[in-house]
Amino acid sequence: MAELRGVLVFLLSVGAAAAVWPQPQFLSVATEGGCRLSARRFRFAYADSSAVGPGCDVLDQAFRRYWALLFSVARNDSETARSEDACSELLVSVTKPECDGYPSLDTPENYKLTVSDEQMLLTAYTVWGALRGLETFSQLAWRNDDGTFCINKTDVVDFPRFPHRGLLLDTSRHYLPLKAILETLDAMAYNKLNVFHWHIVDDPSFPYESIMFPDLSWKGAYHPATHVYTVSDVKTVIEHARLRGIRVIPEFDTPGHTQSWGPGTPGLLTPCYAGLSPTGSYGPVNPILNATYQFMAKFFAEVSAVFPDFYIHLGGDEVDFSCWKSNPEIQTFMQKMGFGQDYAKLESFYIQRLMDIVSAYVKSYVVWQEVFDNGVKLKPDTLIHVWKENAGPYQEEMACVTKAGYRALLSAPWYLNHISYGQDWLAVYQVEPLAFEGSAEQKALVIGGEACMWGEYVDVTNLTPRLWPRAGAVAERLWSNQTVRNLEDAYMRLVDFRCVLLRRGIRAEPLFTGYCDYEYTAF
Ligand SMILES: *[C@@H]1O[C@H](CO)[C@@H](O)[C@H](O)[C@H]1NC(C)=O
Ligand SMILES: *[C@@H]1O[C@H](CO)[C@@H](O)[C@H](O)[C@H]1NC(C)=O
Ligand SMILES: *[C@@H]1O[C@H](CO)[C@@H](O)[C@H](O)[C@H]1NC(C)=O
Ligand SMILES: *[C@@H]1O[C@H](CO)[C@@H](O)[C@H](O)[C@H]1NC(C)=O
Repeated sequence: MAELRGVLVFLLSVGAAAAVWPQPQFLSVATEGGCRLSARRFRFAYADSSAVGPGCDVLDQAFRRYWALLFSVARNDSETARSEDACSELLVSVTKPECDGYPSLDTPENYKLTVSDEQMLLTAYTVWGALRGLETFSQLAWRNDDGTFCINKTDVVDFPRFPHRGLLLDTSRHYLPLKAILETLDAMAYNKLNVFHWHIVDDPSFPYESIMFPDLSWKGAYHPATHVYTVSDVKTVIEHARLRGIRVIPEFDTPGHTQSWGPGTPGLLTPCYAGLSPTGSYGPVNPILNATYQFMAKFFAEVSAVFPDFYIHLGGDEVDFSCWKSNPEIQTFMQKMGFGQDYAKLESFYIQRLMDIVSAYVKSYVVWQEVFDNGVKLKPDTLIHVWKENAGPYQEEMACVTKAGYRALLSAPWYLNHISYGQDWLAVYQVEPLAFEGSAEQKALVIGGEACMWGEYVDVTNLTPRLWPRAGAVAERLWSNQTVRNLEDAYMRLVDFRCVLLRRGIRAEPLFTGYCDYEYTAF
């Protein structure tokens, strides 16, 4: 990487040429000509051929957003638009007559964008694909010396390489205000990321306000009034995400990582023992009580109803067996069940029952890799989330998971909460998710990945600059063709894209020395 840093020193921000991030599958931009987009004249409109039209809120609202993104800054209307009428509207045509649903894992996001002398046309099969095309269009518009926006003749044919392109936020270690989550969703849409993995609760705090079990956040949040996500907050997040073509997958991690569930749910956690007496501290969820499963059935019924996505993340990582081992009732149960001293079997016993509960709500689930590693019997449509960096190369785990026939999600090399001095986006960018030993069938089981932003050292003060533009490196790896890996080209476009993010009010940190025409101005 050292020699590379030398090369990159000389590539400073240029600004003018429109770059697109993530790189489309096919993009051809004419190097001359181009016409002006005038705030006074330009509009987005539905083509006559479109199966959706005015009243389709996903697109109506996207038109307003992208209009504002284009023209609210750097607006210069002192000059009336020149005579190229063709550039006065972008026509949008969607094939599938559906607006009010939610995107899913199977949603096609492909689109085509043509800017010619005759017209500007965006076509897509779904409204979700049209959203991706609007983003590309907004990035292709470039600023002229006089401050107006122009767009060159362009052809784009685009679709994602992987259908699941996620970002994990952890709202338990530190509470993230609603606004920070909504802004993250905005920036995700700019990067064409489409899954918000909401690691909403964990050991330190339980900010999810449950309708059925209000004591969970009342007693488990950092503060029961200021550090919670109310029913209405959660709805706001889901709708804000939907309007940007982003799915929300909540994670309620059990049986470990559940300390914060304890105060609001007496009896749920395992009492730890020292010898024959309880120590007063608690371990993972108690897997031997019927009450535990009765609680989980009610709780996940609520979660299934609140979150519309087909998938729920059930966690299942890093279960600490020491408390289970210390507890005499659990030891007795282990004997009765013939588990011997194999506490992974007890964990499997718990997870299997939990999965049966959740399946009954016609949902499927994502689990962290330990659940697979521990041999839990899984439904075939389970997604295995590969995260361990140090338990042997993650490529081996990807090979094992897919060899067993399960679909895999990759996060191990994409823990963006880890930082280091210099251009650490490069390592993230150079990951190739399919670079593991395996057949074509195995590779086809990799449905994408997620950038993770764990919250031990992250709260609202540093979330955004730590995320952006670094998460963009993951976004491009998951969207663009496998062959898009030229680091100098990526650097140029990412520097440019970071300036776009600043112009849009996102505090994206710099990649290296340089400046943007529109710097971030909070002061
Ligand atoms: C668009 O056209 C202008 C000239 O009008 C040119 O300077 C610019 O490089 C072109 N953009 C791209 C991406 O080729
Ligand atoms: C706006 O456009 C006019 C005419 O092209 C130009 O004279 C003026 O300098 C521009 N203003 C800015 C702020 O770029
Ligand atoms: C737990 O439920 C099972 C099956 O429903 C039942 O056989 C068992 O007696 C119950 N145990 C207790 C302690 O209630
Ligand atoms: C990716 O790019 C390569 C080389 O340009 C091309 O052969 C391949 O068809 C592309 N893949 C897709 C899915 O378009």
